[in-house]
Amino acid sequence: MKRLLGSTLILLNFITACQPKNADQKEEEKSQNEETMQLNYNDPHSLSKPSEAVVTHLDWDAVVDFDQQKIIATAKWEIENKKEVDTIYFDSRNLQIKSITDGKGNKLEYQRHKKNDFLGTQLAIALPQNNNTVSIEYETTQGADALQFLDPQQTADKEMPFLFTQSQAILARTWIPCQDSPGIRFTFEAEVKVPKGMLALMSAENPTETNAEGIYKFKMDQPVPSYLMSLAVGKLEYRKIGEITGVYAEPSVIEAGAYELGEVQNMVDTAEALYGEYRWGKYDVIFLPPSFPFGGMENPRLTFATPTIIAGDRSLTALIAHELSHSWSGNLVTNATWEDIWLNEGFTVYFEHRIMEELYGSDYADMLKVLGYQDLQRTIGELGPESRDTHLYLDLDGRNPDDGMTDVAYEKGSLFLRWLEAKVGRERFDQFLRTYFKTHAFQTMTTEKFVEYLDAHLLNELDERPDVEAWIYGPALPEGHPVPKSTRFEAVQAILDAENVGNTDGPTFDTGDWSTHEWLYFIRGLPDDIGVDRMRNLDAKFGLTESENSEIAAAWFELAIRNDYRPAFDSLREFLIRVGRRKFLKPLYEELASTADHKDWAKEVYEEARPHYHIVSVETVDHILDWEG
Ligand code: BES
Ligand code: ZN
Repeated sequence: MKRLLGSTLILLNFITACQPKNADQKEEEKSQNEETMQLNYNDPHSLSKPSEAVVTHLDWDAVVDFDQQKIIATAKWEIENKKEVDTIYFDSRNLQIKSITDGKGNKLEYQRHKKNDFLGTQLAIALPQNNNTVSIEYETTQGADALQFLDPQQTADKEMPFLFTQSQAILARTWIPCQDSPGIRFTFEAEVKVPKGMLALMSAENPTETNAEGIYKFKMDQPVPSYLMSLAVGKLEYRKIGEITGVYAEPSVIEAGAYELGEVQNMVDTAEALYGEYRWGKYDVIFLPPSFPFGGMENPRLTFATPTIIAGDRSLTALIAHELSHSWSGNLVTNATWEDIWLNEGFTVYFEHRIMEELYGSDYADMLKVLGYQDLQRTIGELGPESRDTHLYLDLDGRNPDDGMTDVAYEKGSLFLRWLEAKVGRERFDQFLRTYFKTHAFQTMTTEKFVEYLDAHLLNELDERPDVEAWIYGPALPEGHPVPKSTRFEAVQAILDAENVGNTDGPTFDTGDWSTHEWLYFIRGLPDDIGVDRMRNLDAKFGLTESENSEIAAAWFELAIRNDYRPAFDSLREFLIRVGRRKFLKPLYEELASTADHKDWAKEVYEEARPHYHIVSVETVDHILDWEG
């Protein structure tokens, strides 16, 4: 399917062009036209046909039913019929469709074509002439993988239930019938009814207080793709933390959460100084219950975050810098398909490191880079250096996009940008990025288009064109790639190199001002076969098994499993039951699955933990443990 945007868009631009515009706006629009017209790509993960008829606005009316764990809703879509076709196509999956009308009560015919399990069902709706509204009445089902309904027991305060959504990559279609492709943007309004005493939030203009009726109204005037649609409902409080920043959390978490995010307004200011205006009005963060399967999700205006970054010392806030950075790379300039995800994630990791460097110095950012590089080496090792999944531009046709997304998009992507930066100098590269974000704001980007833009606006200045294709369309790491170094880690390495760290006399080295990152480097650097005696010595001195820092604990548990260090297993068990973040669960269960004894133990724990996990994590762990239920 080719997606060439038709004449209606140009016409629209002519109409809006009648108002006086400044030079920047004109430049932006001119480029929007040129860019969108040239975009020519196929999204293998959407069954919609947006080149024929495309959605432009959503009016969503919903009731959240916690008793039956479902959402009862009407999605009224405004559409632009570009080719004057008689059918519009939507993505849907596991939705119960009740009726479809033209918004004035006239029924519209529709058909459903099931494609496969992860893509779901194509919803083909017959359009009468001169109609630009379709109104879909529906309910979600138990198969709504984007939704996680939690019992009060699974929340911090254990008082009220909780609901959150996770739409990326292709789960939006399980809670809203939509054209579920990242290149399709729409504005939206919503009215959501929830039980009394609960607050509802979306990736939109949000309330800050619970109201008596439990009815909340939302508005998002900036066009966003479906994967950035989100909803969270719970007993929540709001605390302002900076000029445009604030935090939402359950009452018992708000204090610690607000402290942890004390630097977020500085992050926003730093990001703006680097790459231009923050275009989304407010930047808030919500701390979800610990079953949230990701570290963070960049829902516009409202980042969703795991509470496992609340370490008490602000040492894990690079994750917030990451989600904030998506407000430019991803939310403003968006990957066209999930095969181009490095344009979202690689840019974002690069940007995250730049923010952390500005705020905490290059010594600090270097630690993040080295740890990321270690992750990348591990991933390339697991995939195999020739694996197609080690290319930046992925091939996900026929696959669930979730399966092909690894550290490669993140870490190889950011390394590629650092390599480019080194070619042209930081100042020139920053200027390039600022213009890139500005020129393509609220637009879609393909990998091919990016290379063209890069050639025309940066590489043309170099005497010799560097081989960008080796990075984008080639495996593993090209020769001459940057290798990050950290001086702060050198001191840790010296300790690791000293013989028998944690020997029977007990460790004597000084860890006084180590950050979380130094601890991670240290634990990762301990010998795989360190043995229980030395682990016990380290534990006695540093209390690693009892660490309340989720990153440190997870790294330590991995070593504990490898060495069958039993004193850590009770805490490990508790961790696996409480925390649903896939990044932690995956390596831990993998390590456990590598011996028969540990695998049996893991299955026993998993039986108890599984009901607490989000489907995203369940699918991963089911596979690791060959779980048959
Ligand atoms: N957008 C991602 C999360 C995501 C990616 C969800 C792909 C579904 C499919 C988010 O920005 C992210 O990358 N989160 C990371 C944290 C980050 C610091 C690397 C995470 O959740 O671990
Ligand atoms: Zn990200």
